[in-house]
Amino acid sequence: MSLADSASPPYEFSNTWFAFAKPVWSQILAQLRPVKMLEVGSYEGQSTCFLIETQGARQACELHCIDTWQGGIEHDGASMPLVEQRFQKNTKAACQSVEHSIDLHIHKSRSDLALAQLFVQGYEAYFDFIYIDGSHQAPDVLADAVLAFRLLRAGGIMAFDDYLWAENLPGGMDLLRMPKPAIDAFVNLHFRQLRVLPAPQRQIYIEKL
Ligand SMILES: C[S@@+](CC[C@H](N)C(=O)[O-])C[C@H]1O[C@@H](n2cnc3c(N)ncnc32)[C@H](O)[C@@H]1O
Repeated sequence: MSLADSASPPYEFSNTWFAFAKPVWSQILAQLRPVKMLEVGSYEGQSTCFLIETQGARQACELHCIDTWQGGIEHDGASMPLVEQRFQKNTKAACQSVEHSIDLHIHKSRSDLALAQLFVQGYEAYFDFIYIDGSHQAPDVLADAVLAFRLLRAGGIMAFDDYLWAENLPGGMDLLRMPKPAIDAFVNLHFRQLRVLPAPQRQIYIEKL
């Protein structure tokens, strides 16, 4: 275990996955100033804590986090109970460190079920900012994208992580075990309702029209 981000409060993060995204997110969040946010895939809470810190310094916010805390194919499932404990600890510290209150909703669930439930509960076109970083399997990413898009308001932004991520398999890439084909299919099928924002390619950002 290393402290990947030594910024106060001292979080417990085991990786630096999210560090590269901070400059782009800072720009997007400063312009969008989202109040209602949703994240699919929280793990230890690095992206969650960044949202809490940046937005909680500006205004009171609502943040929904969806995760099974069972890990995906790329994770060691046995370590996930500790990962979940770190998420709880890190997000608590982040919420306590900011000036404004954070209404944090934790949905420990498969993302398709949780997103459909939010839709049924009346969250259609509700969120200003949505981050998709859950399962990296193409069919799951497609379901997350299609369901989450219905929860995004017009003018809201949805970000996808790991656009170019793929497993290093002996036979080469498996198109069904990576996010890119799903994100491409989602963007193509919704092209009348969104625009792709210019950004470095590891993440894709779309704005709902
Ligand atoms: C790459 S990690 C998220 C990283 C996190 N955004 C960060 O900044 O550190 C992916 C997370 O998605 C979760 N996950 C994988 N498949 C899922 C599914 N079908 N539904 C909900 N969560 C899922 C895993 O448990 C894992 O915690």
